[in-house]
Amino acid sequence: MKILAIESSCDEFSISIIKDGTILTNIISSQIEQHVKFGGVVPELAARLHLENISWVIKSALESSNTKIEEIDHVAYTEKPGLIGSLIIGKLVAETIASYIDKPLMPLHHIEGHIYGASIENDFVYPVLAMVVSGGHTQIEIVNSPNGFEVIGATLDDAIGECYDKVARVMGLGYPGGPKIDKLAQKGNKEAFIFPISKNDDSYDFSYSGLKTAVINIIHNLTQKGEEIPVADIAASFQYAATKIVEKKLEKAIIQFKPKTLTVAGGVSANSEIRNIIISLGKKYNITNTFVPKMEYCTDNAAMIAKLAYEKLKSSN
Ligand code: KG4
Ligand code: ZN
Repeated sequence: MKILAIESSCDEFSISIIKDGTILTNIISSQIEQHVKFGGVVPELAARLHLENISWVIKSALESSNTKIEEIDHVAYTEKPGLIGSLIIGKLVAETIASYIDKPLMPLHHIEGHIYGASIENDFVYPVLAMVVSGGHTQIEIVNSPNGFEVIGATLDDAIGECYDKVARVMGLGYPGGPKIDKLAQKGNKEAFIFPISKNDDSYDFSYSGLKTAVINIIHNLTQKGEEIPVADIAASFQYAATKIVEKKLEKAIIQFKPKTLTVAGGVSANSEIRNIIISLGKKYNITNTFVPKMEYCTDNAAMIAKLAYEKLKSSN
């Protein structure tokens, strides 16, 4: 069984083909370079660039996987959430291919796809406890099956990746700021600044706007005084506050839900500290199925959508 999957929810247009659970190809056209000068993703530009990339991405996905379009059995695509212009393009491409080959369509959820990015190379044993950390989401989910997702907590304001990007912008690091802060943090002292650890309570919810404001205020104060900005120390202290709360909430969820798999998903799962936290919590609580996705499956890609589609079909047979 071959599934063709399309992911186009933000600034990547990607097509993957999966055969019986094995990813044959995962072509990603990334637009990061074109959005850098605006300091973030411009929705109108993202949709227009997707239009330019559709043809070559389809062609190279089929060629690199040695697949004829007629061999596809299902067409999956990201239905939501995401930028509306970008999503519509993915949906139209999926509908066109599906109607041309007369095969069923599968509209899928972007975040559920991110979670299954970690199962591309490792099989999930249920229940799965998944920490979702991306540019648009910060939430903890319990996954009982490929059709059973329960959100137990989420951010009340900014997402963690959004917070990294906004802090990085004020630090003059450019877009996307997450990887840049992560790199700088390796050289800094995490105790140099004490930043607030928000929503440090018994809930599974998060809040990142207070941390963002606290970091930005420090930078503005130092700038006003004409002092040099200790970027590495700020990055390390910020990263500590942003990730410590993830560790705390996940530990509580592990104790309450006793998962058989622990995993992390979304763009910020590329973060070194987040990866350390997941791996050490897995060791501490003896969760042998503790998976961090391969770097190429952390940020937006169609392979994760393809794997989700495959697992859904497998579970319904
Ligand atoms: O999942 P994703 O590709 O797009 C959304 O669906 O949001 O995530 C992108 C986010 C950006 O905010 C980016 O700064 C962040 O992931 N990111 C990181 C790292 N690598 C990517 N944040 C912190 N540390 C990283 N190493
Ligand atoms: Zn994403």
